[in-house]
Amino acid sequence: MNEKHSKPSMLSVVVLGASGDLAVKKIFPALFSLYCRKLLPASFHLYGFARTEMSDEAFRTLLLSHLTCRYTPGESECQALMEGFLGHCSYIAGNYDDADSFERLNRVLEAAEPADGTTKRLFYLSVPPFIFEPASASLHRAGMLKEIPGTRQCRLVLEKPFGRDRASSDALTKDLALLCAESQIYRIDHYLGKEVIQNLMALRFSNLIFEPLWNRNNIEHVRISWTEEIGVEGRAGYFDQYGIIRDVMQNHLLQMLALVAMEEPANLHPESVRDEKVKVLRSIQPVCFKEIVVGQYTAAEFRNRQRAGYLEEPGIPADSRTATYAATVMHVRNRRWDDVPFLVRAGKAVNDQKAEIRIRFREVPANIFNASPTPPRANELIIRVQPDPALSLSVMTKVPGLRMSLHKTELNLSYASTFNATIPEAYESLLLDVIRGDKSLFIRDDELAASWDVFTPVLHALEECIIKPQGYAYGSNGPSSADALAALHNTVWE
Ligand code: BG6
Repeated sequence: MNEKHSKPSMLSVVVLGASGDLAVKKIFPALFSLYCRKLLPASFHLYGFARTEMSDEAFRTLLLSHLTCRYTPGESECQALMEGFLGHCSYIAGNYDDADSFERLNRVLEAAEPADGTTKRLFYLSVPPFIFEPASASLHRAGMLKEIPGTRQCRLVLEKPFGRDRASSDALTKDLALLCAESQIYRIDHYLGKEVIQNLMALRFSNLIFEPLWNRNNIEHVRISWTEEIGVEGRAGYFDQYGIIRDVMQNHLLQMLALVAMEEPANLHPESVRDEKVKVLRSIQPVCFKEIVVGQYTAAEFRNRQRAGYLEEPGIPADSRTATYAATVMHVRNRRWDDVPFLVRAGKAVNDQKAEIRIRFREVPANIFNASPTPPRANELIIRVQPDPALSLSVMTKVPGLRMSLHKTELNLSYASTFNATIPEAYESLLLDVIRGDKSLFIRDDELAASWDVFTPVLHALEECIIKPQGYAYGSNGPSSADALAALHNTVWE
C-alpha cells in the first residue's frame, strides 16, 4: 500500500509493575535496543504503570540508570538515542484493582492514539503472579483488552510462574479466558528467546546430517544441565514459595527438552511448531518419585568466601523444605525416544554457571579400533546456551604421527568467533515477536497444561514430604545421590 494513503498507526506499550526489577533491568532496556535498531514503529509510546507515586522525570531517571547502547557504541550518538527513547516514556501511578486508575490509563492511551488510524496495545504484566488476574480484570473492565477489527489490536504479555501445579495453572488459564482470547495472550518463557535455543530447530531441521541419527537407534542419552553459582540472593520471598522445579525445570528446561525431542513441524507456522511441542510434551511420563533427587544448599566456603546455607538466607524460614537443586530422568514414550533417558538437572549455588544440552550418541558397533591403546569414545554433540554460546561435536581422530593413535577432538562453533555480531538479548527477540504478532516462541494454553502434567505429581509429593531435599555444600556439584542417579545411566553431570 502507498504509505501516503495508509492510516496512521500507533504502538502503545504499557508495562504494569514498571518500577520492579524485571521492568527496569530487562523490559525497558530491551525496548531501548529495539528503538536503537529502528525496529519500533515511527509512532510509539511506552507507559510505566505501578503503585509507587513517581513523576515522569523520576521514572525516566530510573530507566536511564539501566540503559546501555549495545548496538550503537559512539558516546554522543548513544546519549542522543537515550534522550530520544526516554522522550517516548511516561509514568502513571495506580492500583491494580482500582477501576479509576485504569480508566485514567485508558484516557491517556486514547489521547495519544490516532482517532482515524490503527493501534496496537501491549500490556506487559511484570507483576507478581497473584496480581495477574486482578490486573487483567481491571484492564478488561476499562475496555482496554477489547480488540476492534481493522482498528485496534490488544495483547497481554505475562511471564511465569503460571500457577503452582496443573490445577492452579488451569484456573489461571480459565480466568484469563474470560477476559480475552487465547490469541491475545503471550506467555513468555525467556529461554525460548535465547539465540542458541532458537537455533535448535535450525540445527535439527535445516541440516541433513543430524535428523537421520536423532533417535533411539543412535542416541544413548540426552543430558540437560542448568546451574548457577549464586544462591537465591535477594529473591528469597519468591523462590521459597516456588523452588527450583517450578522456577526453572517445569519451564526453561522442559522447553529445551521439547525442542530437542519434538518431531519436525509441517512448516514454520507458530501453530505447527507449538502443535509438535504439545505432542512431545504429552509423550513425557510424569516424573517418577524414585527418579528424582532434590537438594538444598548448606553453608560452605566457595571462591574464598564463606557462603550462607539456604536456611540461613535472609527471608527463608528456618524449616523450609524448598529445593534449590533437582536432578531427574525423564522418559519420552514414543517410537523415536523409547528407552532413551533424558537426564535433566537444575541447581543453584553449585560449582559452575552453565546451561547446556549434551546429546550422547551410541558407541560404534563392532568398532575395529576397540583394541587400540586409546579406545574410541562415543560422539557427543554439545549445545551450550550460556555462557559463551557454542556448538561442539566430539569426533574420534587419528593423532598426527607414525602410530595409529586415536584422540577425542572437538569440532567447535563458538558464536563469539564465528558471528561478528551482537547477540540479541532474549527479551529483545521476544518483545519484537509480540509487536509483530508472531507466537512461535510463546507458550500456548495446552502446552502449559502438558508441562504441568509432567511435574505436578512430584511437586505434590514434595509438599507432602514424601521426598525430602538432601543437603549439598554451597559450591559443590550438588547432592551425591544426583551423581548416583547419573551413574545409573553411565554418565556424570558436567
Ligand atoms: C529465571 C529464574 O526464570 O531465570 C531465575 O526465575 C534464574 O531463578 C533465571 O536465575 C536465569 O535466567 P538467565 O537468563 O540469567 O539464565
